[in-house]
Amino acid sequence: MNTAEFIPKSLDKLVEKASFTWQTPSNIALVKYWGKSNPQIPKNASISFTLDNCHTITTIDFERREKSNEVDFDLFFEGKPKEEFKPKIRAFFKRIEQYCPYLFDYKLTINSENSFPHSSGIASSASGMAAIAMCLMSLEAEINADLSKEFINKKASFLARLGSGSASRSIEGPIVVWGKHPEIKGGSDLFGVKFSKDIHSNFKNYQDTILLVDKGEKQVSSTVGHNLMINHPYAENRFNQANDNLEKMASILQNGDLDTFINLVESEALTLHAMMMTSNPYFILMKPNTLEIINKIWEFRQETNSKVCFTLDAGANVHVLYPEKEKESVVQFIDNQLSKFCQKNHYICDQVGLGAKRL
Ligand code: PMV
Repeated sequence: MNTAEFIPKSLDKLVEKASFTWQTPSNIALVKYWGKSNPQIPKNASISFTLDNCHTITTIDFERREKSNEVDFDLFFEGKPKEEFKPKIRAFFKRIEQYCPYLFDYKLTINSENSFPHSSGIASSASGMAAIAMCLMSLEAEINADLSKEFINKKASFLARLGSGSASRSIEGPIVVWGKHPEIKGGSDLFGVKFSKDIHSNFKNYQDTILLVDKGEKQVSSTVGHNLMINHPYAENRFNQANDNLEKMASILQNGDLDTFINLVESEALTLHAMMMTSNPYFILMKPNTLEIINKIWEFRQETNSKVCFTLDAGANVHVLYPEKEKESVVQFIDNQLSKFCQKNHYICDQVGLGAKRL
């Protein structure tokens, strides 16, 4: 595994002060990553839609200081100091310090906010880690003017991955693959790459409405869940299946076959949760309303021939996916029949987006 390319060669031109702001999106996996080895190496390749409205905006102010032996930072979330988020960020800096040694020469002030409500059950680690990674790469690009945009995105994804695996898929868009796979040219376990084949027009501006079934903290973190794939009785088959599904998904995205898309996406969502239910200890993240929604979607599809389908993250919320041309009818269906299963009838309308933006 060649990580040497991510270690900067020269740090001669450290700047005194700098400040960068990045907006980075969340993403939703179509073929899921569940199971990893150290350090954040996925057991199978995964592919996701990059989202647009669900994002994090982070500003990092860098101020030169005397060299220290630990990254020195303050953290503010929605304008207030956030001590409880610091250990995770500290651990992240520890993991990336050999790739960003210039961080020892700065005091960092991090200001972050999410576009989605804090306790919505939408994981903010992907968009949050990606935003920090982009700010660090902006600093690195000031120190070393020779960096190409391609390298900046690649290394940002590499760094974000070390914070949260799925964050590697939150730098680019509209579709990103993470993990080595024979069908994906340039694909790597170390960083996400943009899906480079021509995407069928059926998937243009694909819609994702996120139904907020449960806004609480997850009872089982994804770190614990990934670890339960070690010695899981179905793990090997699952990893092989995911890699096969990624190959199928790559064809579907090019040929636009929505029926096959629906089948694969829903199967992936249920398989992810089946892995949780068959772990030991076992656990269930879906709630009764998750199942109510799934059944309603199946009924609606049968009655109307709609191409709407669902997918799930590691939680109870449901992502409702559908083509842009069905926007009006599906939003009406959600409003009339699904929103009652959401906490405070709350859902978020989103769509596929193009990745990180410098503000
Ligand atoms: O990035 P993590 O460690 O939070 O894992 C995320 C795993 C899933 O969201 C369940 C699936 C995926 O591929 O995003």
